[in-house]
Amino acid sequence: MSVREVKVCLLGDIGVGKSSLVGRFVHNSFNPNLTTTLGASFMSKSLTVDGNTIKYQIWDTAGQERYRSLLPMYYRNAAAAIVVYDITSEATFDVLQEWITELHRLGPQNIVLAIAGNKCDLEEKREISRQRGAEYAQEVDAIFMETSALNATNVEEIFVQISRRLP
Ligand code: GTP
Ligand code: MG
Repeated sequence: MSVREVKVCLLGDIGVGKSSLVGRFVHNSFNPNLTTTLGASFMSKSLTVDGNTIKYQIWDTAGQERYRSLLPMYYRNAAAAIVVYDITSEATFDVLQEWITELHRLGPQNIVLAIAGNKCDLEEKREISRQRGAEYAQEVDAIFMETSALNATNVEEIFVQISRRLP
């Protein structure tokens, strides 16, 4: 059986939980003491969906503004991008929209887009309704999931959905 390698990058504002989502997907663990990502970090993980095995090459980028100019290097030849916001922070939803706009303008033409509304375990602090996230995702033709790296909600699922949309 052949294994297909698929490059995916994670983008989004500082502190939304990109590295935590990758840690949950790759190691099925959550480290509450993660430090901010510098530049980008790389991990890989294989996943079998509908009988096809995909080896995800995952680039976890830094949310800090000063790394922003480096990020085209990571999404330029990606097959998929997961753009993450934090459901408890309106500001991160604004940054998400900037990223989607940039990907539409400058990203690969047939890139598969997924939007993750992370930290959905923090219902009492929610600022962005599920419906608002879902409607925006539909507008831009992206996969949409609310996720929690902390309690493992929908983390593998988002990669499963990406697998099904790959050309
Ligand atoms: P940068 O690398 O700085 O861009 O941040 P990041 O997007 O990689 O965020 P990171 O994974 O480092 O998480 C930031 C903070 O949010 C940490 O304190 C995490 O423990 C916390 N966090 C991440 N995911 C979740 C989640 O699903 N639920 C909750 N409650 N906290 C989370
Ligand atoms: Mg990080």
